[in-house]
Amino acid sequence: MSAHRHQLTDEEAAAMFEPPSWEERYSGEETIWSGNPNPQLVAEVSGLTPGRALDVGCGEGGDLIWLARQGWRVTGADFSANGLARAARHAEQAGVAVRTDWWQVDARTFAADGRSYDLVTTHFLHPPDGGMVEVTSRLAAAVAPGGHLLVVGHAPSEVFAQLTASHRRAMFLAADLLPSLSGTFEALAVEQRPRTMTREGVSVHVQDSTLLAHRRHE
Ligand SMILES: C[S@@+](CC[C@H](N)C(=O)[O-])C[C@H]1O[C@@H](n2cnc3c(N)ncnc32)[C@H](O)[C@@H]1O
Repeated sequence: MSAHRHQLTDEEAAAMFEPPSWEERYSGEETIWSGNPNPQLVAEVSGLTPGRALDVGCGEGGDLIWLARQGWRVTGADFSANGLARAARHAEQAGVAVRTDWWQVDARTFAADGRSYDLVTTHFLHPPDGGMVEVTSRLAAAVAPGGHLLVVGHAPSEVFAQLTASHRRAMFLAADLLPSLSGTFEALAVEQRPRTMTREGVSVHVQDSTLLAHRRHE
């Protein structure tokens, strides 16, 4: 999310969470994200045995390419067709396209429908108005027995004080998501992890809300 230079109306703020707004962000030539994998993904997944993974809100594909390079077979999911096209182009350029496929879907209505993955991961999806609890339960349903769920997003912070109320309500603490997990899950990490990020050329200290859970074999 970037800082807003003028006060957005409630309607403008709400529109920023919807597909047309993301399609527009991904419509130009310039890449938006660094292309590097997110640090909590690298920290938690490096030790896992590669299998089938689902990255929801995959954006331009930085995490997905890293996973494919580790040997995972990865489905990149996002509601933006332009985002998925960029991710597919980057996967091709990285030489990992053969281990990827794509799913255009809205995480708020996502249904696993019999698909299951050894790893379901999402970073900085931030649906509006506390929607991450519902999204997390949908993602949890796609985790295979023995598999892992990793959900990462921004913790609320003074750093984001200039964002709209809608954007601040979209942030969450890891513990907020615990009600999404059925009894078959064991939470392995439920915490806020400090990270330094660069925003408009300035280093800021943020916290990554990180939920890692393991689905037991039934
Ligand atoms: C902040 S970007 C993060 C991209 C990537 N995960 C990363 O960490 O670099 C959020 C991504 O989630 C996608 N997104 C947002 N809301 C979504 C939703 N409800 N369903 C599916 N994708 C969504 C956007 O299109 C965008 O690509």
